[in-house]
Amino acid sequence: MATPSTGPSSGPSSGPARVVVLVSGAGTNLQALLDAAADPAYGATVVAVGADREGVEGLARAERAGVPAFVCPLKDFGSRQEWDAALTGAVAAHEPDVVVLAGFMKLVGAAFLDRFAGRVVNTHPALCPSFPGTSGPADALVYGVKVTGATLFVVDAGVDTGPIVAQVAVPVEEGDDVASLHERIKTAERSMLVDAVGRMAREGFVVEGRQVRFGTGRSIV
Ligand code: GAR
Repeated sequence: MATPSTGPSSGPSSGPARVVVLVSGAGTNLQALLDAAADPAYGATVVAVGADREGVEGLARAERAGVPAFVCPLKDFGSRQEWDAALTGAVAAHEPDVVVLAGFMKLVGAAFLDRFAGRVVNTHPALCPSFPGTSGPADALVYGVKVTGATLFVVDAGVDTGPIVAQVAVPVEEGDDVASLHERIKTAERSMLVDAVGRMAREGFVVEGRQVRFGTGRSIV
């Protein structure tokens, strides 16, 4: 079983990489990871799912898959720091090698990033550094870009600013609205996420400045 790293390098260990996925909504990216992880050759297993709100489909997906789930709502805490500490503890209890923010619509804080330094990745529905924030597809449409997409990046203290693990391009089509564009982005995004997380687990990865490289062969410890 993999041991959590304290640094930015993670890689293959004796068992599948332990992945905790955080969600806020539908959880289709989570489902793609759950489906991929059903194959032992994938190299990663989803050991827990966390959400910042009750009742979301992502939590139901975890339950159907028999994966432990927890909920950590910001409104239950007196401050953002207290919430961040509680979220950090809830995730740490599952000893993740990698934490995947998959439609998690909250910014994690300093305690969280300290605890899981270099091992938190977020998937975003735009080609970073374009259109950060919570409305990437809408912002791309308003701007009038012809190509947008999705980005998986290593989370840092900024908003969608971290080193890029993987990207996929998606053309904007005439007549697209936010829903149609986001759905097409999500189809491409799920494949990108599954591919990149699998590589992180099987090949290892290292973060050097803004560069993220696979295949470091480094142990997770
Ligand atoms: C995904 O497109 C993800 O990139 C986006 O929310 C969607 C979640 O879909 N996240 C953000 O916009 C974060 N800035 P899902 O719940 O079906 O996986």
